[in-house]
Amino acid sequence: MRWDPEQYGHYAGERARPYFDLLTRVRPPAEPRHVVDLGCGPGELTLTLAQRWPNAVVEGIDSSPEMIQKAQLLSSSVTFRLGDIAAWTPDDDVDVVVTNAALQWVPDHSDVIKRWLPAMSAGGVIAWQVPGNFESPSHQLMREVGDRPRWREFDLDRVLGFHDTMPTPVDYARLLLDAGWTADVWETTYLHVLPGVDPVLEWVRGTGLRPALAALGEHAAEYEQEYAAELRRAYPAGAGGTVFPFRRIFAVGHKP
Ligand SMILES: C[S@@+](CC[C@H](N)C(=O)[O-])C[C@H]1O[C@@H](n2cnc3c(N)ncnc32)[C@H](O)[C@@H]1O
Repeated sequence: MRWDPEQYGHYAGERARPYFDLLTRVRPPAEPRHVVDLGCGPGELTLTLAQRWPNAVVEGIDSSPEMIQKAQLLSSSVTFRLGDIAAWTPDDDVDVVVTNAALQWVPDHSDVIKRWLPAMSAGGVIAWQVPGNFESPSHQLMREVGDRPRWREFDLDRVLGFHDTMPTPVDYARLLLDAGWTADVWETTYLHVLPGVDPVLEWVRGTGLRPALAALGEHAAEYEQEYAAELRRAYPAGAGGTVFPFRRIFAVGHKP
């Protein structure tokens, strides 16, 4: 399943906002030595970490070669490299871990985070943000259309089903508190106002719809037509644009 940095870059402003909202609550006590952005994508947001902590080693890690190639074109002191979040563990000197809109792609990611907690030094911070919109019309309709007889052979319910077991905000708070960390967990529903025709389809094409498009192959455009018709009913365009509510979950833990 490929990532397309150009498609993902649509709505970059809307996608960046939760990153900055997350970072407002990250307060390492001293100058951090090593800062890591896991699932860094095309890297522009990672650069802001280097601006905030100019004396730190800042690293962006992502499993998509397309994303890492794009990030490596940015001229900066940040090191971008390929890597899998599920296999990553913090070195002794990692003081800040940020992972924005990436952990939803990592199965059993609570267990992965739990592994990181004891490995980090006192004062360390882990901050993550994940979408909390898998029950919203945009995602329900993906599956409802996929359940029509025409599409059943592609088994989209299974293909899209890996988000079924997303932890709740309370799960994240407990995970941190049970390990003796502080827990600062919250959720926000952004009401994005999107211009243009079929903007919700355009948005999910860059992220949540990708597994379905990959499974559908040459039939993707036909499926998209049916899905877009449903999206237009669920998110009608009006004066000023289409309102697209998008819930997100944030968690920041500090190690005492
Ligand atoms: C929605 S993008 C978010 C990119 C960036 N963090 C941002 O906020 O714009 C999700 C990113 O997570 C990466 N990703 C997904 N699963 C991953 C994994 N197991 N290991 C590393 N990166 C992963 C994808 O390649 C993609 O670049």
